[in-house]
Amino acid sequence: MSAMIPNEPAAPVASEVILEGESITKSFGGLVALNDVNFSVQRGRLHSIIGPNGSGKSTLFNLISGTFPPTSGRIRYAGRDITGMPEHRITRIGIARSFQITTVFKGLTVLQNLEVAAQARHTQLNFWRRAKTLEVANNRAQEVLAMVGLTSKPNALASELSHGEQRHLDIGIALATNPDLLLLDEPTSGMSQFETTATTELIRELSKTLSVLLVEHKMDVILGVSDWITVLNRGSVIADGKPAEIQENEAVIEAYLGKAATRTPSGDVSI
Ligand SMILES: Nc1ncnc2c1ncn2[C@@H]1O[C@H](COP(=O)(O)OP(=O)(O)O)[C@@H](O)[C@H]1O
Ligand SMILES: [Mg+2]
Repeated sequence: MSAMIPNEPAAPVASEVILEGESITKSFGGLVALNDVNFSVQRGRLHSIIGPNGSGKSTLFNLISGTFPPTSGRIRYAGRDITGMPEHRITRIGIARSFQITTVFKGLTVLQNLEVAAQARHTQLNFWRRAKTLEVANNRAQEVLAMVGLTSKPNALASELSHGEQRHLDIGIALATNPDLLLLDEPTSGMSQFETTATTELIRELSKTLSVLLVEHKMDVILGVSDWITVLNRGSVIADGKPAEIQENEAVIEAYLGKAATRTPSGDVSI
C-alpha cells in the first residue's frame, strides 16, 4: 500500500493575471511597430500604456482586440491563448474596446446604439433565445446608460450629443457587451478640461468593477487613475511599474517627458 502523500499547501496567490503578452512583435512591411514586448495585466487593476506618438500603443490594442494578429509572440487572456483570435470571438470571451467615435451610429438613438452593442456578445439564431437576447440586451443598455451618465438622453440621436457625450457613448458601447476587460484608447482626446475631468471620474468608477487597460496622453489623467503603468518607446517596453516609480524613472523622463517634451494647455504631452 502506497503511503498517502499529503497535498502541498497551495502557494498564496497574491494576484491573478487577466492578460499577458509574451514576446510580441508586430511588423508592417519593414516597419517594426512592436519589438519583443512582454506585459502582464493583473485582474481588477487599472493598467495604463503610455509612450510617445508612434510608440506602438494602438498597435498593441489592435493585437489584443483581434484587429490583426502579431507577427510573432503570444497573447493570453484569463489563461487562454487568444493569439490571432478574430474580433467577434474576443468580444464574446469578455474583452471590449472603445473604438474611435466612428463606431457610434449617428442616426440611431443613444439607447439603440447600446442595445445593438449589447447583442454582440450573445447573438443567438434561435428565435426564442433571440427574444431573450433582446430582453437581456435592453436591460444591459439601461444599466450602461446610468454607468456612463446618459440617463437623461436615451432617445437623443447620437448625432445630437456633444463631443464628450459621444465619447461616453463610445465607452458605453464597449461596456454594453458586459466585458471583464475594457480597453480604452485615448478616451479624453479632443475633450475640454471640464469633459476630461468627468471622463477621468468615469474611468475611475469603472475600474472599481472591471479590469481596464488605458492608453492616454494626458499625464494628469494617467497619474490620477492608474494602478500600474507600462511605458513603450519605439515599439519596446522601457519601464513597467507603479505611477510613483514611473514618474521617477530616468529612461521614461528622457524618452517621454524629456527636455523636448512640451505640454499643451489641455495637458497633452507632445514630443
Ligand atoms: N495598420 C498599419 N499599417 C502600417 N503601419 C502602421 C499601422 N498601424 C500602425 N502603424 C505604424 O506603427 C507605428 C506605431 O503606431 P501606433 O501603434 O499607432 O502608435 P501609437 O498609438 O503609440 O501612437 C507607427 O510608425 C505607425 O505608423
Ligand atoms: Mg495611438
